[in-house]
Amino acid sequence: MIHLHNIHKSFGNLHVLKGIDLTINKGEIVSIVGPSGAGKTTLLQVMGTLYRPDEGTIEMVGTDITRLSKSALSKFRNRHIGFIFQFHQLLPEFTALENVMIPALIAGTSRSAAKARALELLQYLDLSARTDHKPAALSGGEKQRVAVARALMNEPDIILADEPTGSLDSRNRQELQELFFRLRRDMGQTFVIVTHDEELARLADRCIHIVDGIVRPEECPEAAPTDNTPEAL
Ligand SMILES: Nc1ncnc2c1ncn2[C@@H]1O[C@H](COP(=O)(O)OP(=O)(O)OP(=O)(O)O)[C@@H](O)[C@H]1O
Ligand SMILES: [Mg+2]
Repeated sequence: MIHLHNIHKSFGNLHVLKGIDLTINKGEIVSIVGPSGAGKTTLLQVMGTLYRPDEGTIEMVGTDITRLSKSALSKFRNRHIGFIFQFHQLLPEFTALENVMIPALIAGTSRSAAKARALELLQYLDLSARTDHKPAALSGGEKQRVAVARALMNEPDIILADEPTGSLDSRNRQELQELFFRLRRDMGQTFVIVTHDEELARLADRCIHIVDGIVRPEECPEAAPTDNTPEAL
């Protein structure tokens, strides 16, 4: 569903991404790990069409997005990609419901249809009692679930998440982790998740290790022992 080929990105004379090749399949949950400054966020933003690569191609749902104009790219992003950030980035002056509706309103969906879908998503995420609260009146876990609902609003092909559990305590972290897998099961959602959370990285189908702007596939957190391993017998 997503193919990145030979992606390079520099900021001034700082060469950050140095030839990334990557394929993400539909319904996969892929984690991206690696040291601070390795280029993980830059890679996610290039995948999310927020930065254009200096070199290389990105094919997403059959479109070569490196060829799209600025306005076509915004439309593509709104329709096909959902984002979840470390610090929710909800708009403080809007309620949970309104925050979730925004991507659909930008896409030109009617207010009533946007509201109906937003309410459905908020219910799915166990937030029905919080729809009229503004972000300041929500807990950390609730804010992050509202951000998940917002990311899902336009039924994106892929959700890109940058340290989504980074600002949460361990209970909320685990709940959010479980939510990603539930969304994959119920909606076939595809995720690319940048994370420092070893547990989340381990649970993913695949882990991509980025060091100094290149992919090092061999160095991801070890799988935790399961009931089938000799230690557990
Ligand atoms: N907009 C920018 N302008 C200039 N330099 C940037 C910009 N964004 C990132 N960089 C630099 O690019 C390098 C990679 O940054 P990036 O944010 O991708 O790292 P990261 O792997 O996400 O790190 P962390 O784990 O700390 O979030 C860093 O040296 C950073 O300072
Ligand atoms: Mg980062």
